[in-house]
Amino acid sequence: MEILKEIKDWRSIRFFKNQKIEKEKILCILEAGRLAPSWQNLQPWHFLALENEDEKKEISKLIVTRKMTERAPLLIVILGNMEGFDMGIAKKRIKEQVGDKMSDEQMTKYLNNKKASPVLNSHPVLLSRLLEQVSYASSFMTLEARHQGLGVCIVGGIENNLSEKSEKYDEVKKILNIPEHYDILTVLCVGYENETVEKRSRKDLKEIASFGAFGKAE
Ligand SMILES: Cc1cc2nc3c(=O)[nH]c(=O)nc-3n(C[C@H](O)[C@H](O)[C@H](O)COP(=O)(O)O)c2cc1C
Repeated sequence: MEILKEIKDWRSIRFFKNQKIEKEKILCILEAGRLAPSWQNLQPWHFLALENEDEKKEISKLIVTRKMTERAPLLIVILGNMEGFDMGIAKKRIKEQVGDKMSDEQMTKYLNNKKASPVLNSHPVLLSRLLEQVSYASSFMTLEARHQGLGVCIVGGIENNLSEKSEKYDEVKKILNIPEHYDILTVLCVGYENETVEKRSRKDLKEIASFGAFGKAE
């Protein structure tokens, strides 16, 4: 299994064929998100797979590059659950992982550490920890979509609690039946490619990685 091949072939695709995506492929993409890791396995997310034109138009109202989201055959809207870091559930999940290897006292100490528990931090920190969690799910889904022969563009330019929110945000959430405590964090535009895109260059490895202290060469 070679993952680097797909990674090397990565480029954002913004124009798509007017072609429906097979249900099995959509399910594989969602499955990749479902299997992504998260802090204490809390999985604080929900994914909306939108193909319906009206629903795509609705979410597009919140997006800067909205023409792209309107024309993509499939949008995967990634929602973060603001209540997803619940301490009670975290305790349960830790127990599942470590069993009796951790005493209740150790667990309480661990969960009361701000560095570990997102929920002990301020709202902006909580939101950024939530974005951190869903980034893994969106990366996994993006790679799986490429593996299925599909083009993807990640959309982060969204009106939400991390940017600047207007009344529109709550209206769209209501229409799409999104519970109040879920935030719209990322949208993936997915479809069969209908453009040829040159690969964009990346910084050299020696510019962005060190072997030991910062700046130390191999
Ligand atoms: C978190 C994130 C948010 C992005 N948001 C947008 C966006 O709102 N609109 C857009 O057209 N492209 C968006 N992109 C795509 C980037 O512009 C693109 O990945 C980058 O320029 C590198 O090009 P490449 O993906 O073709 O290698 C986003 C990418 C990431 C990772």
